[in-house]
Parts: sequence; structure tokens; C-alpha cells
Amino acid sequence: MSDSQSIDVVHGGTKVLTMETLNPNVVKMEYAVLGPIYIRALELEKELAEGTPKPFGAILKGNIGDCHATGQTPITFVRQVIALCTYPLLLEDPMFPEDAKQRARGILAACSGHSVGSYSASPGIAVFQKDVAAYISQRDGQPCCSNNIFLCSGATEGIRIVLKMLMTGKSGSEQAGIMIPVPQYPLYSATLTEFNACPIPYYLDEENNWSLEVDELSRALTAAKGKCIPRAICVINPGNPTGQVLSKKNIENIIRFAHKEGLVILADEVYQYNVYAKGSQFFSFKKVLMEMGSPYCSHELASFMSTSKGFMGECGFRGGYCEMANFQDDVQKCLLKSISARLCPPVLGQIVMSILTNPPQEGDSSYAKFQDEKSNVLSVLAEKARLITDLFNSIEGISCNEVQGAMYAFPRIYLPDKAIDAARKLNQNPDFFYCSQLLEETGICTVPGSGFGQKEGTYHFRITILPPLEDIRRILGLFKSFHLRFLDKYK
Ligand SMILES: Cc1ncc(COP(=O)(O)O)c(C=O)c1O
Repeated sequence: MSDSQSIDVVHGGTKVLTMETLNPNVVKMEYAVLGPIYIRALELEKELAEGTPKPFGAILKGNIGDCHATGQTPITFVRQVIALCTYPLLLEDPMFPEDAKQRARGILAACSGHSVGSYSASPGIAVFQKDVAAYISQRDGQPCCSNNIFLCSGATEGIRIVLKMLMTGKSGSEQAGIMIPVPQYPLYSATLTEFNACPIPYYLDEENNWSLEVDELSRALTAAKGKCIPRAICVINPGNPTGQVLSKKNIENIIRFAHKEGLVILADEVYQYNVYAKGSQFFSFKKVLMEMGSPYCSHELASFMSTSKGFMGECGFRGGYCEMANFQDDVQKCLLKSISARLCPPVLGQIVMSILTNPPQEGDSSYAKFQDEKSNVLSVLAEKARLITDLFNSIEGISCNEVQGAMYAFPRIYLPDKAIDAARKLNQNPDFFYCSQLLEETGICTVPGSGFGQKEGTYHFRITILPPLEDIRRILGLFKSFHLRFLDKYK
């Protein structure tokens, strides 16, 4: 009898992990961005590659904010420093500018054993924590202590770490409640399900450009009474999937609300560079909170930033930071203990974050090119944001709030009753039904609004503004003819 056969006998031939015995929270959690529509898009892509005829020639991925995957080119200085750090023999190569070499030498000196292949300290390499703190303090005109910074594997990991700290360790009406926007980026709903916590949904107001009203926050919190212990409010600014940019007044009101209700503020600010609309400006929660003075300036705030968005779009390096402002020393110590169990965030991601927060300065040989590349990426994104908003609004049966910031449009689709009935018969959400037909007929991959949450009876989908301008025009042309066909079919 072989070893595996004898094990089968001991366990009676059954597997330990089955769909019935798996952690039920993992079974329940959903992440729509890479959900069933995306999985079907991958199947279609494979079928196309095998030569199966389709009504389209390629899959157009508009489902995820993955900048380089949709054609954005890397910022040269970032890749030069990464190349030099990973293969230091290149430090002798005259192809690389002197400031990139100097930067790489400094980074290697800060790495254990002069290698990016070694573990770093758990909160990140100390000089990078200082880079981040200096960036925040310059951005906000307010002090920032580098001990309050930890680097993380994308903002995702930072958010999960802080959410984990907020759990009560209890269930039922004593489980932690976290206020999250609807629509929201599904990392939040997925993580709360996984952690067995209670989401407290507050609705953004679509009629008012997805504004965030304090009355609605109060309503949501009251509705959660007795169901959980409310612990934090999460705000995504600029918004994903909704693209709105909060005004300073709005942020002040949210801070007052959080303070009054005793809620930690989680400020997801990964799109802080992605602001396009005239009159819109990014204000960090940290800056507004500090400027409000006592008692608000000592309110607990965790804010998150990423290398994946902005103008770098370096998603694959998994760079992120979290600033923990105004938390008790003991809590900070416990957080440090908790993150030490993950050893350290990826060192290459940390390097990218250090360049984001400490870019080439005026007088450095790479300064002009860096600035040029940065403003080029951001101005093209602004142009695409305008184009997409205008085009969607020109189509019958669609309305789309202005994409003020971030990287997505979230248009509302007014579906005919017959289409809604047809979807229900298939046991599908109507917007899922719509997005899956869009995919099957045009190859355009989007995410149904139900994956982000939306007001009952309204339907949306999310599409990124990332593909190159020519592709966007083509995608929108294909989209428009599909949409009109769909309306005609179900009218
Ligand atoms: C609002 C928001 N927060 C966090 C993230 C996670 O980003 P990262 O790649 O840094 O983990 C994303 C990614 O799309 C996002 O849109």
C-alpha cells in the first residue's frame, strides 16, 4: 500500500477541505472586479486564441484599473533605479543617468547585505518611511512622524491590516461594524465578509454627483444600532467606482461626524494624483483634520496610498503606505507586532514608493524627463475622463456623472422592463445580464454595478478610462451600437 493510499484509509477517503468544511467567510466573499464576467472574458480570450470565430477580434479589458496592462508606459526613472538596484553591475553602465545611480547606491546601502533580495524591517526600510513622512508633511504643510508610517504590499495589504486591528474578536451584535460607501471598491466588502465583520453601508448621492452627505451617514449609523459595534468609517477620495472628489467642507463635516460618533477614519486616498475636473481639488483627510485644530486634530486617522495608481500605475510592484495618525502608543506597538508576522513588504515595491514620495528634484539630471512623463500621463487621463463622460451622456438610456477623478466611469443604465424580466428569469442581476451580453457581443469586459453596490432599482456598470485614446473611441463606438441593439431587443 502506498503512503497516499494509507492516508485515504485513515480519513475514510474523504478530503479535509470541501465546500462544506471550508471557512464559510471565504466561500461567501466576492470580488466583482475579477468576478464571473472577467472569468468568462478569459475563457473567450482563450477560445479566440484557439481560432474559435467570435463577433469580435479581441477582449477589451475595461474591468480593472491596471494601468500598464492597458498600455501605459512606465516612468523611466522608476525603472532605471529598479534595474540598477536589482542588477548592481549596471552601476558601471554609462547608459544610466548619474542621479539614478546615486539613488540606487543609497538604496542598496540601506538594504541588509546591500541586496534588494534581503528582508527589510517589517514597517519598511527606515529611509523610505522618512521619504513618505517628508512627502506627507510637504503635501499637507503639517508635521508627519516617520514612526507612524508603515509600508505595505499595495494599499490593499495596509487596508486589511488596519481593518484587522479594528475587529472586536466577537460575533453577532458584538461584531465590528465598518461604515463603507455604496457604491464601494469591493476590497472593503470582501475583506469585511472574510473577517466576519458587519458592513454599515452609506449611500453616495448619484443625483448630486455622488456627493457624501452627513445626514445619510447618520441614517446609516442609526440603522446599524444593535447589529454591531461601529468602529470606523471608510471614505474613498477620489472615489472608486464613482470618481467624485470631495470638497474641503465635505471632509470637515465627515471628520466632525466621525469624532462625534467615536469612529476611526480610514481615508483611502490612492487616487490623490488623479483629479481632472475643473474646480476639483484633492484635500487629504490629514491636512483638513490638522487644520481644524482641537479636538479634531488628535482624532484617529489611518490613510492609504499606493504606487498602483496616480501617474506611475506600477500595480505589479505592490507598493503602498499607511499613515497611522493619532493612535495610542500601545496600539502602534501592537500594530508593529502584528505586521512583523508578515516579515516585510516587497522591497521593490518599497523602492517604487520611495521614488513616488521622493522624486528627482530640480537640478537633478532626470528631473525634466520625470516631470514630462508625469504630466503627460495625467493630462491624457484627464482628456479621457472628459471624452468618456461626454460620450456616455450622448447615448440614449445612459447617464453618467462627470468623472472628476480616479480611473473609472460608472454610468447608470436605464434598462427596459423586458430586459429586467429576462434577467430575473435567469436568476441574474439585470446589470450582470447586461454586462455579460455586452461581453459576448463586443468583447468589452466591464464590471456590473451590483458588484459595488447601488441604490435598489438602479443599474450601472464600471469601465476604466485607461485604454489608449484610439481604443477608447473604438470601445465606445462598439458599446453604443450594442446598447442601442439591446434597447431595441427588449423595448
Ligand atoms: C480605492 C482603492 N483602494 C485600494 C486599491 C488597492 O490598490 P493596490 O494596488 O495598492 O493594492 C484600489 C485598487 O484599485 C482602489 O481602487
